[in-house]
Amino acid sequence: MGPLDFIRSIRRILAGKPRVPPSLADNQLLDVIMKRRSVRRFSDRKIPDDVFSTILEAGRVAPSTVNLQTWTFFSFTAETWQDTFGRPVPFKGNRAVIVMGDTHRGKMVLDVFPYSPLVEYTVAVTNASLAAMNMNLAAEALGVSSVMLSETGRSGFLDAGYLKETLDLPDGVFPLMTIIFGYPRRGVPAHASQAST
Ligand SMILES: Cc1cc2nc3c(=O)[nH]c(=O)nc-3n(C[C@H](O)[C@H](O)[C@H](O)COP(=O)(O)O)c2cc1C
Repeated sequence: MGPLDFIRSIRRILAGKPRVPPSLADNQLLDVIMKRRSVRRFSDRKIPDDVFSTILEAGRVAPSTVNLQTWTFFSFTAETWQDTFGRPVPFKGNRAVIVMGDTHRGKMVLDVFPYSPLVEYTVAVTNASLAAMNMNLAAEALGVSSVMLSETGRSGFLDAGYLKETLDLPDGVFPLMTIIFGYPRRGVPAHASQAST
């Protein structure tokens, strides 16, 4: 594939609308899944505690290997984020969750598997990522927008060593992503905000 073909196919992907047969168009969950987009410009409107705790709860009920729930969530308000990291939540988000894989948790519950660090790591990453997606979709369903952030290279927040020290993480608990939550800035459709990665 030449460079022009490559650019054309990327444009086709970006312009592509989700395809849902008319008979399923009224399904609310499908609608949330199909319309979700990462948002990177948030308003000052605060997310109520009950809404945010429901988003966390959606993460907690995500499926996981042998129901081991091999994750740890670090949840922040705008204020606790500022106190912890000495800077505002990225994109002026109102809440944030750092999602961690947690190889400890499985062992606390069930210690019958032979020691296999790669499998433990993979299981923890898989399960924590599913929980992250559950939170992301639950937020969307409640009118709250979000963006998942990995190591940005600007903040170093997901620098594992830095986070281990700052958050006093035990061995086996490792950061995977930060989810930033907030209400979108008025007049900024989710799909119009710019990706930085
Ligand atoms: C694990 C993960 C890490 C991401 N990291 C970043 C990031 O560091 N910065 C950013 O702006 N977007 C980040 N994104 C968002 C993606 O850029 C975005 O999901 C993708 O461009 C598709 O756009 P959409 O979410 O609007 O459909 C990340 C997404 C995932 C799943």
